[in-house]
Amino acid sequence: MSILIQNGTLICPQGPVKADLRVRGGKITEIGPGLPPEDSRLVDAAGKLVFPGFIDTHTHLEMNKGLPNETADDWSSGTRAALIGGTTCVLDFAEPERGASLASALETWHRRADGRASCHYGFHMTIKDWNSAIRAELPDMTAGGVTSYKIYLAYDNLRISDGDAYEVVRAVGELGGVVGCHCENGDLVSVGIAAQKAAGHLSPAAHPLSRPAAVEAEAVDRWLAIGELAGYPVNIVHLSTCRALQAVRQARMRGQEVYVETCPQYLLLNESKYQLPGFEGAKFVLSPPLRTPADQDALWEALSAGEVDTVGTDHCSFRLSVKALGRDDFSRIPNGIPGVEHRPILLYTYGVTAGHISPHQMMRLLSEQPAKLFGMYPQKGALAVGSDGDIVIWDPDYTGRISAAHQLQAVDYTPYEGMAVRGRAETVLLLGETVVESGALVREKRGRYVRRGACQFWRRERP
Ligand code: URP
Ligand code: ZN
Ligand code: ZN
Repeated sequence: MSILIQNGTLICPQGPVKADLRVRGGKITEIGPGLPPEDSRLVDAAGKLVFPGFIDTHTHLEMNKGLPNETADDWSSGTRAALIGGTTCVLDFAEPERGASLASALETWHRRADGRASCHYGFHMTIKDWNSAIRAELPDMTAGGVTSYKIYLAYDNLRISDGDAYEVVRAVGELGGVVGCHCENGDLVSVGIAAQKAAGHLSPAAHPLSRPAAVEAEAVDRWLAIGELAGYPVNIVHLSTCRALQAVRQARMRGQEVYVETCPQYLLLNESKYQLPGFEGAKFVLSPPLRTPADQDALWEALSAGEVDTVGTDHCSFRLSVKALGRDDFSRIPNGIPGVEHRPILLYTYGVTAGHISPHQMMRLLSEQPAKLFGMYPQKGALAVGSDGDIVIWDPDYTGRISAAHQLQAVDYTPYEGMAVRGRAETVLLLGETVVESGALVREKRGRYVRRGACQFWRRERP
């Protein structure tokens, strides 16, 4: 069976094009004006935008599984929520136990996701230990379709030394992969938390005070130096401040290749949330924390100017009962917020309709650049003949409000509660099969693992 999408505005790699698009056998087979119906099922997209499926390059599904601080969304609920929002592929962070192999984490993540995921998926690998055994596993990871990694410079249970970070960047770079970094200075975070507690500040309001902008900026600078010395491009995940952006600009002016991810929460929410009464601020405890309105403005400007490469969610959803682990001590509040369902609608409403970015820029941020950076292009991330039929038909006229009561995310709040939205994923195709129709999920568990290749995003010659 094939589908012919007629009369839509296709957001193609070269820009918006008014044309028809046919999907057959799971692939885009034709793009052009006035395509004949043939045997295809017809879908009228007049007045609609047609995007390549959106890719969320930053999720944490089934994190801390079996522990008191387990995340709310598992592979079932998280990928259903992704899909209804128009996200057809997520890249989740596989995480080995301390001392365990990367292979063990990859196997665990496959066991959790395979056969359960409603959207496509791939895995980044977290490096918590660095030694010759882990290094020796990297080619196996590449063979298994894992070509991207994350290291942490913060969180005592996760962070590695600067020397090890340098080694990781070199070893991964040699294989054509890319390493992303959680940029906060772990020592200074520990000192910051201790200082807040010593002053008797135990509520969520102390969270941002314990890890101010300088803590991120120092780690970004250090990560950039590590990347420069290692001689390979590096990725910065969940960048949150103007100050960190300035560090990136300076590095780029020096000729360094560096990629930047920010997240909807840093664009749309700010530190005022930590002043909410009672324990409400806990809903917004994530790291780095929400920042100032000036930081938000700077991030939007960077998005408009093309200085940000990807917008991932960092979806890491904790029920309020789990957030309550830190009721008497903000440093025990599990860090993270949900968002995988709402990223496209937020970017469209507050990015496109507000005039910060065009639909084409939105496509580049949510589809094309994620696919290129993480070795999936043009199979994913493009409306082009030969690409996978993962497609979003976007109704630009829909209006509504975000509410936890109506979300598919399995968490009992949303940080975007009550926010007005415009536009939505009306129809979603996954490999040419209709999985969302009239904004409702109609098919589940059709997601496939995406075996990824080398980073395709390098702007300059590889060393
Ligand atoms: O607070 C956050 N961001 N939690 C998720 C884990 C991470 O650091 O990405
Ligand atoms: Zn992080
Ligand atoms: Zn994260």
